[in-house]
This record gives sequence, C-alpha cells and structure tokens, in this order.
Amino acid sequence: MHVKTDSTLVGEVLDRRNDMPEELIVGADIGPAEWEDSAAAPPAILIVDDNEINRRLIRAMLKTTPYSIAECHQAPEALEMLLSDRVDLVILDLMLPGMGGPEFCRRLKADRRTRLIPVLMMTSVQGFENEVTGITSGADEFLTKPLHPAVLRARIRSMLRNKALIDSLDEAESILFALAQAVEQRDQYTGQHCQRLASYSVALGEALGLTGTELRALYRGGYLHDIGKIGIPDAVLFKKGPLTEDEWVIMRSHTLKGEEICRPMKSLALVLPNIRSHHERWDGTGYPDGTKGEDVPLLARVLQVVDIYDALTTARSYKPALSHDEAAAVMIQEVERGWRDPELVSLFLDIVADTRVKEIPAITSMQVSLENMRRQLMR
Ligand SMILES: [Fe+2]
Repeated sequence: MHVKTDSTLVGEVLDRRNDMPEELIVGADIGPAEWEDSAAAPPAILIVDDNEINRRLIRAMLKTTPYSIAECHQAPEALEMLLSDRVDLVILDLMLPGMGGPEFCRRLKADRRTRLIPVLMMTSVQGFENEVTGITSGADEFLTKPLHPAVLRARIRSMLRNKALIDSLDEAESILFALAQAVEQRDQYTGQHCQRLASYSVALGEALGLTGTELRALYRGGYLHDIGKIGIPDAVLFKKGPLTEDEWVIMRSHTLKGEEICRPMKSLALVLPNIRSHHERWDGTGYPDGTKGEDVPLLARVLQVVDIYDALTTARSYKPALSHDEAAAVMIQEVERGWRDPELVSLFLDIVADTRVKEIPAITSMQVSLENMRRQLMR
C-alpha cells in the first residue's frame, strides 16, 4: 500500500539536511559542471509529482543550485511539456495517479525526441521491488524517501553532467550531418542525392532483413558516405572533362578522408565501412583496398548499388538522366563485367520496378539531430 507521510517527511528531511558534508557524497566533488563554467542557460528540471508538498520540498532542497525548475502534477501534462519545452532532467514520483510513474517513464524513453532525458524516480514506499520496477521502466536513477538534500543534489548534478556529455556528442554528430549536406549542396547536379540514397538504402536493407541498427547505419551512410569530398580541391571535384591520373588519386582519397572525419564519433562506428568501401567492386578492381566479393562490407555494397542507380537516373553536367529501364540495363552490364554484387543488383531492381521503395518517415534520426542542434543554439 502506498502511504505518503509528507508532513513528517518534510520535518525529517529539513532536520537532517545539513548533517553530512556535501563533498562526502559520491559524485558531489567532481569539479565544476559544464554549465557552471559557461554562459550557457542553467539546466532545466521538471518535477512530476501530484503532491504539492513533495514538489515544494524538492524545490527547497535545490534552492541553492542554479537550476530552472518547472512542475507538473500529472503525467499527460508533463509529456506535453517535454515536447514543447527544454527539459534536461525529470524528477518523477513512482506513484502518480492515473498513468503511473513507470508507465510515464516507459513512454518518455520510447519516444525518440525525449529518450535521452534522464529520469530520477523516487518513492516513499520502501522495498527493493519498487526500485526494480522503476529501473526496468527506464528510470536512470532511483531514490527512496526520506531524501537527503545533499544526496539529491549530488545525484542530480551527476545525471546532468552525463546529459551535457550526451548533448555535446549529439551536437557533434549534427554538425557532421550539416557538413555532409553542405558538401552535397556545393554540387548543383546532385540535388537531393543523399536523401534519396538514404531512403533507397533502407528499402534495400529492409528487403534483406537487416536489423534496425544496420538500417540506421545505412541511413546515416546515405548522408555521410561522401563527406570526405570536403577535403578535395574544387579544381578536381568540379573539373569539366576527364581527370588526370594524379587527380584521380586525389579524388579517390575522399573515401579515406571521410572515414577519418567520422572515426572519432563512436556512434558512427557502423557507418565507417560504408564510407571507406562504397567504391569497392565485386571483382576487386575498386578502391581504396581492392577487396572483392563478400569481403566488401555488406552495407557498403548496398549503398553502392543504390548510389549507382541514383547517379544513372539523375541528370549530371556531362549526361542526361536515364530511364529506369536504361539504368537497369547499364547495371546488368556492370554485373556481367564482374563489378557489382549480382544478387543485390537483381533484388534492388525488383524493388524499384515494384515501386516498393518507401518514403522515410518524417521524423528521421538526422532531422532529430538537426533539431537538437537548433535547440542547443537557442539556449
Ligand atoms: Fe564516393
């Protein structure tokens, strides 16, 4: 049974709030947090608890900190706030009326737009099973009342530090995607090439039964595969007429340059083979490594097939757009020459012919990344 003894709780906590030096609390003495050193806006905390005394108590405990604090007494309203306002951390009561704390937490963590927001769940009901329920619903931390103010502050500070780290990684990824788009926009002929590549790759990946993680890597690879072209001089990249052998060496280096640019981001680890190997050929005559057959990473082979189809079916400075049938004929010739994976080409042409290529849903990981970047800039 849920018994809230808030009046005693307030007194108990206020009596005890200064009985432990804050530097003795784990996580309290780990140097200044990012927002304390910069002109960035203070972290925004949302308290979701139906009990006003509890909300006031938490506010009182955080009085000495620079946080911006908002309150909600019910879950539906809180879920709306998460989508409309900037929230860096949620303090959540386990026993919310209506939609309970665990269900609220599950919904927050299931939504791509809110899943990176840390949740500190708390309850006044003793028992490890509550903690298990809270953590399995996705809560990042769990505290049982009575709360110690120093413990609460230390936990919040530690969680916000991790959140700031995640935000900065997310921002770095957003910048890479923006850079990739800038590379694409320099070439007036490629248009929405990356968007189409990402969509086609995912369609082919789905037909192959790839996992969600692999599909995400394909989608990202669609945008990032040519990011290394940022390091290719315009005189080579936009040269009208055939390249010299030396210029080809420079042009081919975009695969390795791209891999180098994206390598520091661990979240892009699965995308690196697409970037490095999207110009390899089935018979080993491609670049940069000359790998052949199934030694060429599958995701890179998928990307290559759709890249070639898109290049053939769109107009360039040196050629008009081919029809689907003409493009299919060229790709089949390339299979016969030994350049392409025969099964992948055949499957992809079937997919396109059946017009089974689907549009990517409106909310894509890249759009979310760019949205996060905009949020960062608005802070
Ligand atoms: Fe390329």
